[in-house]
Amino acid sequence: AKAMKDEDKLYRHQGTLYVSIMSPLENLQALETLEARPDDVLLVAYPKCGFNWMIGMLQKMMIAAGLEKDPKQTPLMEFLSPEMQKVISESPSPRLLGTHLHLKNIPASFTAKKTKMLVVFRNPKDTAVSYYHFTNKNAVLPKAESWDKFYSEFMSGDVAWGSYFDQALAWAKHVDDPNVMIVTYEYLKQNLVEGVRQVCKFFNFALSEEQIQTIAQGSTFEAMKDNSKDSHGQLGNVFFRKGEVGDWKNHFSEAQSKEMDAKYEKCLGGTKLAALLKY
Ligand code: A3P
Repeated sequence: AKAMKDEDKLYRHQGTLYVSIMSPLENLQALETLEARPDDVLLVAYPKCGFNWMIGMLQKMMIAAGLEKDPKQTPLMEFLSPEMQKVISESPSPRLLGTHLHLKNIPASFTAKKTKMLVVFRNPKDTAVSYYHFTNKNAVLPKAESWDKFYSEFMSGDVAWGSYFDQALAWAKHVDDPNVMIVTYEYLKQNLVEGVRQVCKFFNFALSEEQIQTIAQGSTFEAMKDNSKDSHGQLGNVFFRKGEVGDWKNHFSEAQSKEMDAKYEKCLGGTKLAALLKY
């Protein structure tokens, strides 16, 4: 098959860009009526905030708790075709589901049923840098002409799944919801064991201290990168790139850094989410 042209790789729907091949409109439309269950385990993360890290941990936790038998990758719900969504609608509880969608586009049923949602955020600068490398290495996304060009697109929200800032602002209003847990990439980097413990508690996974320690040991960047061929095949090295806090310093100009600080402050300043992100 002929390679897709860069300009066709994303399409715009209701103002937001989506990946043409992975989440065509029929997927998004079918999702609107996906029925949530109160015991679903839903992971939400803006692209590059640590989705694959956390989904890997959730899989380990569920296997250890005797809940999930199939250790294969969990696709984003927006990547599921209408047929696959039917399969999911019949699969046994508890289901492990994930998405990069903006809160307003998460199927309404999840809010109605008060399904527990674990939300992972990462500071916007490292998120942008990670996204820049990812878009250049993943064939389903358009190549960035330069860091400066990508930075501008990230700032204006003209990247797949839309604006980081819009998504963060939406969650900032739900930090205290009992069915919502927000965890940051930066917190996990420093407190992996405690992070695993808190996530287990949130979802009521009954794991022993030993199981928690084992999961944390298997979830370091090094451990997950070593296992990435098995978990992610060819894209292993693309998903597990550097795994550090602060790589933005190698990419941002002084002016870009200041501009993003100002935008962040304007959008999120004074919110509990900003305090959690300590950025
Ligand atoms: P970098 O590009 O900065 O390395 P997502 O899974 O949401 O696409 O996020 C990918 C980012 O999470 C990548 O960031 C990746 O390296 C990082 N990551 C994945 N697993 C990790 C882990 N176990 N520890 C730390 N970072 C991890």
